[in-house]
Amino acid sequence: MCDKQVSAATFVFFVILCDVSLAAIEKTNDNQKSTYIVHVTKSEMPTILNHHSIWYSSLLKSVSNSAEMLYTYDNAIHGFSTRLTPEEARSLKSQIGILKVLPEKIYKPLTTRTPQFLGLDKITHMFPESNTTSDIIIGLLDTGVWPESKSFDDVELGPIPRSWKGKCESGQNFSVANCNKKLIGARFFLKGFEASVGPLNATTQFRSPRDSDGHGTHTASTAAGSAVKGANLFGYASGIARGMVPHARVAIYKVCWEDNCVASDILAAMDAAISDNVNVISASLGGQAIDYDEENLAIGAFAAMEKGIVVACAAGNDGPTNSTLQNVAPWMITVGAGTIDRDFPVYVKLGNGQNYSGVSINDGSSFVPRTFVPLVYAGNASVKVGAELCLTDSLDPEKVKGKIVFCDRGNISRVEKGLVVKSAGGVGMVLANGEIDGEELVGDAHLLPTAAVGFEASKAIKMYLQQTQNPTATLAFEGTKVGIKPSPIVSAYSARGPNPITPEILKPDFIAPGTNILAAFTKFAGPTNLDQDHRRVDFNIITGTSMACPHASGIAALIKSVYPNWSPAAIRSALVTTSYASYKNGKKILDSATNAPSTPFAVGAGHVNPIAALNPGLVYDLTADDYLNFLCALNYTSDRIEAVARRKFRCDAQKHYSVTSLNYPSFGVVFKPVVRSPIATVIHERTLTNVGVAGTYKASVTLDIPSVNITVEPNVLSFNKNEKKSYKVTFTTPNPPKRRQVGFGRLEWSNGKIIVGSPISIMWE
Ligand SMILES: *[C@@H]1O[C@H](CO)[C@@H](O)[C@H](O)[C@H]1NC(C)=O
Ligand SMILES: *[C@@H]1O[C@H](CO)[C@@H](O)[C@H](O)[C@H]1NC(C)=O
Ligand SMILES: *[C@@H]1O[C@H](CO)[C@@H](O)[C@H](O)[C@H]1NC(C)=O
Ligand SMILES: *[C@@H]1O[C@H](CO)[C@@H](O)[C@H](O)[C@H]1NC(C)=O
Ligand SMILES: *[C@@H]1O[C@H](CO)[C@@H](O)[C@H](O)[C@H]1NC(C)=O
Ligand SMILES: *[C@@H]1O[C@H](CO)[C@@H](O)[C@H](O)[C@H]1NC(C)=O
Ligand SMILES: *[C@@H]1O[C@H](CO)[C@@H](O)[C@H](O)[C@H]1NC(C)=O
Ligand SMILES: *[C@@H]1O[C@H](CO)[C@@H](O)[C@H](O)[C@H]1NC(C)=O
Ligand SMILES: *[C@@H]1O[C@H](CO)[C@@H](O)[C@H](O)[C@H]1NC(C)=O
Repeated sequence: MCDKQVSAATFVFFVILCDVSLAAIEKTNDNQKSTYIVHVTKSEMPTILNHHSIWYSSLLKSVSNSAEMLYTYDNAIHGFSTRLTPEEARSLKSQIGILKVLPEKIYKPLTTRTPQFLGLDKITHMFPESNTTSDIIIGLLDTGVWPESKSFDDVELGPIPRSWKGKCESGQNFSVANCNKKLIGARFFLKGFEASVGPLNATTQFRSPRDSDGHGTHTASTAAGSAVKGANLFGYASGIARGMVPHARVAIYKVCWEDNCVASDILAAMDAAISDNVNVISASLGGQAIDYDEENLAIGAFAAMEKGIVVACAAGNDGPTNSTLQNVAPWMITVGAGTIDRDFPVYVKLGNGQNYSGVSINDGSSFVPRTFVPLVYAGNASVKVGAELCLTDSLDPEKVKGKIVFCDRGNISRVEKGLVVKSAGGVGMVLANGEIDGEELVGDAHLLPTAAVGFEASKAIKMYLQQTQNPTATLAFEGTKVGIKPSPIVSAYSARGPNPITPEILKPDFIAPGTNILAAFTKFAGPTNLDQDHRRVDFNIITGTSMACPHASGIAALIKSVYPNWSPAAIRSALVTTSYASYKNGKKILDSATNAPSTPFAVGAGHVNPIAALNPGLVYDLTADDYLNFLCALNYTSDRIEAVARRKFRCDAQKHYSVTSLNYPSFGVVFKPVVRSPIATVIHERTLTNVGVAGTYKASVTLDIPSVNITVEPNVLSFNKNEKKSYKVTFTTPNPPKRRQVGFGRLEWSNGKIIVGSPISIMWE
């Protein structure tokens, strides 16, 4: 679990997650205060109070004499956050005008080659990037920024867009002069963190937008970093590093501190980002999915969406377990992660002549066992429980010294295991995937020569260890290779569907590069983020859906720059319907968890394809009201809807609302048992808008589940320019089902040139 979380973000995050449990944050007894986020009905403000902040204060005073306001919010939600005892919170909840009193939630922060891999290097002559994308502003909710990184160089950029209303805040080791025409804004939000977790440790953190962790610098440069020649990590992945939209502007909202990003700070940042006029919000952070009206990040995203701001989020790193998706609100873009065509191969050669490939980044500073040295199973060199996992202080130096040590993955971060082996005197490490990790190989900048090997190789090497008197091995590092493996492959850690909140909304939307991504880094921490890592690098290679998200945010920004009037839903539709689910040879994208073809629960529509997304032909558009109708279909009360939408919206009791008529660019089909009928039926309704030239599109369907029939009516649609056309998809199956298996398929509309594809998932309740 913890190991997963590491790939999620960075390793500091992991350490905190595993050692300091959330219990420390959530401990509350009846007279202890904790943070609450209070959502109000603004229309019920007494008219004699002429400002909402006065009203909020009086509401607060009515339940507590001592409570201080942490933040008041005006854009992301209507309301405020404060510290209350559970009793005070209950009493506040009963006051007129109070919609919800939600407890604080702690979220976790979850590219030289990527532009070429995505085909973005070909885009320059298609769209003169310099004068379209430079008006776009991407806001990142993350760990801050290292402003001196060359990725934030502004030499190629003209004046700051006039739409920008934000600011550059100064603080510890950060001044207004650190902002420029690339890094146009930098703010930090930590009142909520300090209230819940405790005072910031200013020796390990900067009380300013400066990034001590590296995660935020990495995501910001992935989305919109300026081109930097000669970028690399210890010689690996060397080339030009550039973000998806190198001329877009970056606005940093630092909300994550020591691995915790608390909702009250996140909402304050979103409140600011909305009034600052960003065009895209990129949030590489997440927490367990909960209902939309309890999920502050989703609520803030709703307000952003209403303002035309695209919100892209990481899907989470708790895969390959089913139903682990985070950030699943239908007004967000949910991004899973895959590999790219670049590899860092290392070969583990055993004394018996067998040779297994793995992945590694070796800094070249330590002795490399190029000739045979003893290989030892960590579980057989134990002084403490957990030696097989190479847990801290678990290895016997006598049995490890001068050897290559075989460690199983899990429980602590991958790079910590390297530190444990190195401290015990080992000269190398074989880091062995378990079954759950499959063949996913993460390249970490370990503190000693290391080979990360897949589950198959790990079984074989373990067998050799068991069967051999004096096992030996060598490690051979082969640097950076491109195109040696099929790519993309879905990463095992990438969170999986079905959508835990609304299975009819198929998530993730798509995948983007997330494994072994090179981008800018902090100079305050080493590439492993371990305290003992004294190396400093300009660029780091890290892994997670955190890395996939800014690829999507950047590409969304690109689309926005070409089509400034498109809604966030139209932009998402373009990204979804043009994603590819198969390789050029027609075979489905593989899943590294199973080494088998992936399903839409892992890839969504497939891998993002930015060039095609710029010309999607047709889009599935949505307005804010469509989402409100969707909430009506979920039987939300008017108060619950108001908590999401900050306004009154009454569902019409006469009207039939259906989750399956939300105009989403994919189909999550859920059959429910029906009484006394031989057939169960599910109908999805959709409307396509022609954003290309006039033409006729024909529907075609593939389904891998013979017990389900599907019809599309009409199955031919002719469009004039900008015309909208509706259609209906009917799914039928025998009732009760013979088998409750899961099925997948795809619906494509094609005019012979452009394919508008939607993934389909089918399940039974
Ligand atoms: C982009 O710049 C070129 C030349 O600098 C100019 O001709 C063109 O009109 C500009 N396009 C837009 C959309 O501003
Ligand atoms: C931060 O500022 C202090 C005081 O000026 C300076 O000593 C320190 O080196 C700076 N730290 C970084 C990481 O720039
Ligand atoms: C801050 O972090 C440093 C380095 O980990 C540690 O030595 C120090 O004790 C911490 N300070 C506080 C107040 O926790
Ligand atoms: C996860 O879902 C897949 C279908 O996508 C199914 O085959 C598998 O059995 C599920 N795994 C578990 C543990 O439920
Ligand atoms: C191991 O095998 C790979 C090909 O599978 C080869 O490229 C490499 O040179 C071999 N290494 C050794 C040390 O034999
Ligand atoms: C490793 O983690 C698992 C799951 O959290 C736990 O059950 C197990 O006890 C841990 N092992 C050790 C040696 O700490
Ligand atoms: C661990 O040591 C035991 C006893 O010497 C041996 O039987 C076993 O095969 C070893 N396991 C591995 C994986 O090396
Ligand atoms: C909403 O309520 C109706 C009527 O009670 C029910 O048929 C429907 O299943 C409910 N929908 C959801 C999503 O709970
Ligand atoms: C599916 O289609 C076949 C062929 O048209 C038909 O025989 C069968 O009854 C249909 N099944 C359902 C559940 O609609």
